[in-house]
Amino acid sequence: MEEQDWAQVVAAATRAPSIHNTQPWRLAAWPDRLELHLDRDRALPVLDPTGRQQVISCGALLEFAVAALAAAGHGTEVALLPDAGDVDHLATVRLAGAVEPTDDDRVLAAAIPERHTVRAPFEPRAVPGDLLDRLQREAGASGVWLKPITRSEEEVATVFLISRAEEMEQGDPAYLAELERWLRTDPAAQDGVPVNAVPSGDPHERASNWLIRDFVVGQREQQPFRAGGDPDAPPPAVERPAVVLMGTDGDDRADWLRAGRALGHLLLRVTAAGLVASPLTQALDWPATRVRMQARLSLVGHPQMLLRLGYPRPAEPGDPAPAVSGRRPVRDVLRFEPAG
Ligand SMILES: Cc1cc2nc3c(=O)[nH]c(=O)nc-3n(C[C@H](O)[C@H](O)[C@H](O)COP(=O)(O)O)c2cc1C
Repeated sequence: MEEQDWAQVVAAATRAPSIHNTQPWRLAAWPDRLELHLDRDRALPVLDPTGRQQVISCGALLEFAVAALAAAGHGTEVALLPDAGDVDHLATVRLAGAVEPTDDDRVLAAAIPERHTVRAPFEPRAVPGDLLDRLQREAGASGVWLKPITRSEEEVATVFLISRAEEMEQGDPAYLAELERWLRTDPAAQDGVPVNAVPSGDPHERASNWLIRDFVVGQREQQPFRAGGDPDAPPPAVERPAVVLMGTDGDDRADWLRAGRALGHLLLRVTAAGLVASPLTQALDWPATRVRMQARLSLVGHPQMLLRLGYPRPAEPGDPAPAVSGRRPVRDVLRFEPAG
């Protein structure tokens, strides 16, 4: 493929989600292949000292790249961790000939620009069981298990561990300093989490047990009610997100990449079905709460990603446009090598 074709694929692939929108990737393309490398300059040493969540993010990018290539008529072969001497070389995608794209290939690739993390409350409408079954089947086919958190004792345990993790994080100055470094107020920022992509934490807006990561530090305590909010207003409708836990039997880099690919695929599938999602990974940041989750939910294997899924609330007149997180330009993340 030519340089401009790779640039298009990489522009789509880099729409992938990443922890704190760190975009911890570097890409190199040749006419016949694309290499994915972890960019350690964008690490999160406090939140993610092993790089697990950043490798998952790179796995999501890998899946988006494969989806974009499939829709453009390219078969691919993916090798995970192809270089034993360089663990940061996470994957190589080789072009494997022309293949007529299926309708599903087109549907999934079309979902790439539509997908965004939506942290706002969802509609009080249940996620269809057949969609959850499909997500479970498709994750399973890529070596990743998906467990909907449905039993009330599992929900109580998970909600407890998330709030315990949030509490630990809010009490850790190093965690807070790192979070603040990735928070953005400039709407043109090319990375980081835009402040207006994070709901205010107003309890009159959200009736849910599921605690969204507190990005704007301390806002929950300082702003129990939004200025001008009516304290006598009726309580909001209770959202009914489906909460799903993704995990793997092992817990090494290859497992993290597989989890990231499965995450990328799941997000495209739910977007294509008109749903939105937001990760809730606080309880998995910390070894203590991650291990307790394994025990409390009797998991065989390692939890990698917790997500809430649901239907977005329709925009009302006067609502601000939803914030879209920025991306670094392709030229900053992709190097093209014409020969070899
Ligand atoms: C591994 C991983 C963990 C994440 N954890 C959280 C989280 O705990 N809370 C949250 O609100 N968003 C979380 N996110 C979402 C990112 O913040 C989001 O993908 C990023 O800001 C880019 O925005 P976008 O998904 O709208 O493109 C996570 C994403 C990834 C890939």
